Parts: sequence; structure tokens; C-alpha cells
Amino acid sequence: MAPTGSEHDPDDTAVVPKRGGAEVIAEQVVKTYGTVTALRGVSFRVGAGEFVVIAGPSGSGKSTLLNLIGTLDQPDSGAIVVGGRPVPLPSEAVEFRRRLVGFVFQDNLLLPYLSAQSNIETALMATGVGREARQERSQKLLVEVGLGHRVRHLPSELSAGERQRVAVARALANEPRLLLADEPTGALDSASSERVLSLLSAMRERHGMTMIIASHDDAVTGRADRGLRLTDGQIQA
Ligand SMILES: Nc1ncnc2c1ncn2[C@@H]1O[C@H](COP(=O)(O)OP(=O)(O)O)[C@@H](O)[C@H]1O
Ligand SMILES: [Mg+2]
Repeated sequence: MAPTGSEHDPDDTAVVPKRGGAEVIAEQVVKTYGTVTALRGVSFRVGAGEFVVIAGPSGSGKSTLLNLIGTLDQPDSGAIVVGGRPVPLPSEAVEFRRRLVGFVFQDNLLLPYLSAQSNIETALMATGVGREARQERSQKLLVEVGLGHRVRHLPSELSAGERQRVAVARALANEPRLLLADEPTGALDSASSERVLSLLSAMRERHGMTMIIASHDDAVTGRADRGLRLTDGQIQA
């Protein structure tokens, strides 16, 4: 059945089974870019299912840290363990991300020529989920994020807040045990920010994943279980 309308009973629309959150451990992580040291020996632990915000000024290393946790980049030294698995070398990183991690970026990074639904489906390509199941899951995810009436819209036909909600749905498509979000409200007005934040919180409640969000938005900090503060590539005590 094609979903219609924007508001549905949430219990009807939970399509992603609860897999539980992945614990994240970082030990003495160092990352340099040429002469710039972005992270200077960062260590922390985020418990399974915890919601932690990484705060800190621009240039303090927040994005670098998220990218390393999510295997988009590699540390120079130190170790990161997600869900009991050391973050792998690039050769195995694609599979690792597909199985464990969802990403939301400040700019939603939706493909402009694909509908909302097709954008979500792209996250399910090469996962072994068949075409019909991909379509069905994508539609249900759009209903979950309150966009069941926007499945065929292109990103350009959606508001910035709606686009970010599609990006959240896409990040959830592979049933991640860890959701990483880099300034997810950074490009939104306060009402849209609030809606995206409520959505992220609700999704964590429902799906039980660990959530790490880099942000200097007080509204994000207020919702997190805990904050970590980065200054000049180091965690402040
Ligand atoms: N790809 C890159 N090449 C060179 N320098 C980089 C690169 N990415 C980040 N940096 C530098 O690393 C530091 C940390 O950047 P970043 O992690 O983006 O900080 P934040 O997300 O907190 O603003 C900054 O000094 C930034 O200029
Ligand atoms: Mg950043």
C-alpha cells in the first residue's frame, strides 16, 4: 500500500528492527593533515545506545573525529573500536559502514535528480535487499520521518528541513547501530532544527542506536545524554 498523508501511528511504521546500539571506544587517536594536527590523542568511550554531542569551536576537530569513527578517513595512530570491531582499513570500510553506520551531514547530500524515495533506496543498493523490498522500506521510512506525502518529490521540491528529514531516513535505511551526524541542524532555521532534532531523538528511542552528533547548537546539546568538548584537537576534561 502506498503511504499517504504525513502523520501516522508510529507503531504502524516501525520498519527497522531494533538492533541495539554499538559501543564506540577511541584510544589516543591522532590525525594530521600535512602540517595541521586535527586530533592530538583523543580518547573517550560512548556506551551502547548513548546520545553524545561533540561540541567545540570551528576547526576543533569535530568533523575529523566523526569521519574517523565512520571510516570515511583513517587515523595516523591510535585505535577506534565500534561495536567490538576495530574500525577497519579502507579495503573493508564499505562493508563496515553498510553494516553498522548511518551518516547525516550538514548539507543533506541528496542526489538532486532522484526522488526522495530513490535517494533512500540508494542506501540499500548492494545490501542484498531486493528491489521491491527496497521500495517498500524507503516508502515506510519516509512515512516515519513525516514525509509519506513527498515520496516522489525531488530535493529541489522540498524545504531544507524536509530534505534533512529525507537524509535522516536515508541514514536509517541500513538499520545502523551507530548514527553519526555532523552539524545536522547547521543549515536550518530554528523550527526546522527543532523538528529534525525531535526526529533524531525519536528514532534513537525507537531503534536503540548509539548517536554521536557534532554540533555547537545549544538545542542539540540540550537533548543529548552527555557532551564531549573538543578544543584544538583535544577532549577537554
Ligand atoms: N582535508 C583536510 N585537509 C587539510 N586540513 C584539514 C582537512 N580537514 C580538516 N582540516 C583541518 O583540521 C582541523 C580540524 O577540522 P575539522 O575537523 O573540520 O573541525 P570542525 O569540524 O570542528 O570545524 C582544522 O584546522 C581544519 O582546517
Ligand atoms: Mg565540522
